[in-house]
Amino acid sequence: MSQAASSSTTGVVFSRQGNTRFSGYEDFCRQVTWQDTAQQLQLPRSNGVNKATLCIDEHPPEVMQRHALRWLATDGSREDYTFEDLKQLTNRFANVLTQLGVRPGDRVFVYLERIPELYVCLFGALKVQAVVGPLFSAFGPEAIQDRLADAGAVLVVTSPTLKPRLDAIADQLPALQHVVVVDRYQTWQPTHTENKRIQEHAYETLMNQASDVFTVPPTDPDTYSIMHYTSGTTGKPKGAVHRHLAVVAQAATTQHVLDIRPEQDVYWCTADPGWVTGTSYGMFGPWALGTTLVVYEGPFDADRWYQVIQDYQVTVWYTAPTAIRMLMKAGDARVKNYNLGSLRHLASVGEPLNPEAIHWGHQLFGKVFHDTWWQTETGAIHIANYPCLEVKPGSMGKPFPGVVAAVLDDTWNPLPAGEEGCLALRPEAPSIFRTYWQRDDLYQSRLKNGWYITGDRARVDEDGYFWFIGREDDVINTAGHLVGPFEVESALIEHPAVAEAGVIGKPDPERLEIIKAFVSLKVGYEPSEALKKEIQTFVRQRLAAHAYPREVEFIASLPKTRSGKIMRRLLKARELGLPEGDTSTLEE
Ligand code: PRX
Repeated sequence: MSQAASSSTTGVVFSRQGNTRFSGYEDFCRQVTWQDTAQQLQLPRSNGVNKATLCIDEHPPEVMQRHALRWLATDGSREDYTFEDLKQLTNRFANVLTQLGVRPGDRVFVYLERIPELYVCLFGALKVQAVVGPLFSAFGPEAIQDRLADAGAVLVVTSPTLKPRLDAIADQLPALQHVVVVDRYQTWQPTHTENKRIQEHAYETLMNQASDVFTVPPTDPDTYSIMHYTSGTTGKPKGAVHRHLAVVAQAATTQHVLDIRPEQDVYWCTADPGWVTGTSYGMFGPWALGTTLVVYEGPFDADRWYQVIQDYQVTVWYTAPTAIRMLMKAGDARVKNYNLGSLRHLASVGEPLNPEAIHWGHQLFGKVFHDTWWQTETGAIHIANYPCLEVKPGSMGKPFPGVVAAVLDDTWNPLPAGEEGCLALRPEAPSIFRTYWQRDDLYQSRLKNGWYITGDRARVDEDGYFWFIGREDDVINTAGHLVGPFEVESALIEHPAVAEAGVIGKPDPERLEIIKAFVSLKVGYEPSEALKKEIQTFVRQRLAAHAYPREVEFIASLPKTRSGKIMRRLLKARELGLPEGDTSTLEE
């Protein structure tokens, strides 16, 4: 458990921390296989592989009595649920869905704040073999419409606060049949709309009437379990679909990357369940092992976060670089007000973890944040820093045992160490996505020469450590959330004053990137600060609180190719004062 930092040719290196069952990375790779984890999870079982039975129902009796979920509400109230409690609740919800006519393969979406019912509904839906789709509660009507329409969702679970956003676009969701409202604080009045196609139900009423006994049908491991929408450069977000078997990779990485020992650990994943980290590591991996999770409903707040760690004696903490930078900004003095001695292992995901953040964490908590790299599409951590590996701050670490990763040239062949290229993976982990929902063409286009092309640029050093360089596309990473420029541009041009819009990611010291919009106005509109604010609010409300342009610049016209495509690359080069590169396709 030494935390000594030593110097090396590549800079400061932190020696191995935590569980040192493996003598080093090579030993780790020799000893850990997907098959071992599958065996440890007692797979295959007579009823196949279902994430819900595996994560909730079929733990040994002593684990069934353990806390699965320790929930802290924004208002400070608390609720605890054992695995046994969740078994009964998810059984009830599975019966509710069955009664409402939900069939295997139907898409059921959960659009809720971070409350216990979110977990109950998601796992209840998995029990009936629906394909579940979590929706980030900060999404506005336009963002949820794109996703629900694309998925053909038949049922959405929501709350009184979020429901108006769904009501605003429900007419444009022909497949939608049921809206279930979780009315935790009894604020909901059912509205009797003309729209008979969509039935509205109170969650509490349905749950009270349902039995808490349910038999999960045998589930083929390849059955689709969950879909997460993710943004690309062009077009609207697409749904990356995963199967039930993904749980094997999620459990293996939870055990060997997050270093979880379920008998003793209390684990906190700060990601929202609307994103893949919040499901793969905020539910599936840890619960498959029988781990106690802490869930804090509220938004980021340095004091509340430290309080959560202190009060629940959190031992393993999985968070994101932007959150770490925000904690750094909140000041070191704050940390001293809390007893954070329970922390044993720290990890981070979603953006490059800058060495300063690692050094800060080491100074304040006496622990090193272990960077992990993966994507919505990979479903589980693929490259990481492990307890058995020295940490080179700034590196994403090395591939997980069983993962083959490489840096490729433009003809999809591996490059030698030190050279920069496309980060690619053999698409073999149990958690790798199976397709993009109804966009198999797009899925196929990401496979080249037997590799899955991640869309990131990277290099490998002489010691086999991977270093992130950047994205290959125009997708913006703001505070760990991927945002497609096309989505933001589509929302912008719906504003009556906007003629055209081009959106880029602008480097930002805290959020990695912020969204910047270049906007040309329609005849009759004059640029003004008031109009900027109005346009920002417009996008914020329609799309999402995290996806609005923090900067808006009015320009007379946008640089376009002769075929009329906005040249974002040029906008970015001009913004950053970089060379403009090839402009031969620029419109006269
Ligand atoms: O560009 C990489 C960045 O986030 C992308 C994946 O985003 P998403 O699908 O939303 O999933 C986020 C959580 C798994 C990657 O293609 N990214 C993720 N982790 C890292 C990272 N960039 C640098 N370092 C990381 N550790």
